[in-house]
Amino acid sequence: MQLEGKSVVVTGAVAGIGNAIATLFAEEGANVIAVDKQEERLLEFCESMKDAPGRVVPFPGDVQFQEVTDGMIDKAVAEFGTLDVLVNNAGVMDDNAAVGDMSEEMMAECFAVNAFGPIRAMRKAVQTFIELNPEAEEDDETIGSIINITSVGAVHQTSGVAYCASKAALLSATKNTAFMYIHKGIRCNGIAPGGIVTELPITMPPSDPFGFGRTSELLTHSSLLGMPEDVANAALFLAKEDSHFVNGTIITVDGAWTTF
Ligand SMILES: NC(=O)c1ccc[n+]([C@@H]2O[C@H](COP(=O)([O-])OP(=O)(O)OC[C@H]3O[C@@H](n4cnc5c(N)ncnc54)[C@H](O)[C@@H]3O)[C@@H](O)[C@H]2O)c1
Repeated sequence: MQLEGKSVVVTGAVAGIGNAIATLFAEEGANVIAVDKQEERLLEFCESMKDAPGRVVPFPGDVQFQEVTDGMIDKAVAEFGTLDVLVNNAGVMDDNAAVGDMSEEMMAECFAVNAFGPIRAMRKAVQTFIELNPEAEEDDETIGSIINITSVGAVHQTSGVAYCASKAALLSATKNTAFMYIHKGIRCNGIAPGGIVTELPITMPPSDPFGFGRTSELLTHSSLLGMPEDVANAALFLAKEDSHFVNGTIITVDGAWTTF
């Protein structure tokens, strides 16, 4: 098992990419705090994982709120005695609107869920890594790893301005955090998925016609779709010590969509 005994927090663990990550990590022996706003489905998922090598403990909540992002990290320490990995995966899509058509609500929701929540979770995780490892010397091996699920949309215009800009904020926070703690044994990387088969198209709001027309042009470059497990495998690499020299980078998992 590649993550035996690791203490991990995964947000958005009920569906899609987060579900694949929580499942793979528990199968590889990690103990997982599974966070999601869909409480009933979360409890069902954790129950379904009861025979996995690692424990999967539910933590229902909305990552927009600080009591949830702080609470999930405290829960990992309370349940498993430590914290090794934070996976900021929970995210919401926008309605593809260009800035001229963007609503206040869409901007606020995308930034609250895709940027502010994950950045607060990073703050709490970094504080916890340092508190739990007060003896860590400069250039020690990893004391904690953060994996942020960004998007190819952070640098390519695959969605509306609210989604793309919120993911760009998370991308920037990823690189800033890796830089700041470069000598503290804290690694921070991102994964930028392209088109992945998940529940996102079902839950996203109806598309703005002008913005959707513009972003649809990108689909002519590739019709390939990946599976959540393709992203989970990249997350597994980043969670392991094998990737100890991979820091401050974004791994693109998009089947070459953005090579044009
Ligand atoms: N699917 C894609 O093509 C794609 C592409 C690029 C990036 N991403 C990113 O991957 C991540 C996962 O997306 P997915 O495609 O698996 O989506 P999904 O809709 O299939 O799953 C998202 C999960 O997150 C949960 N969630 C959403 N908002 C939450 C909140 N505020 N608090 C707690 N839980 C919340 C949902 O309940 C759900 O279980 C997102 O950050 C998304 O932006 C997805």
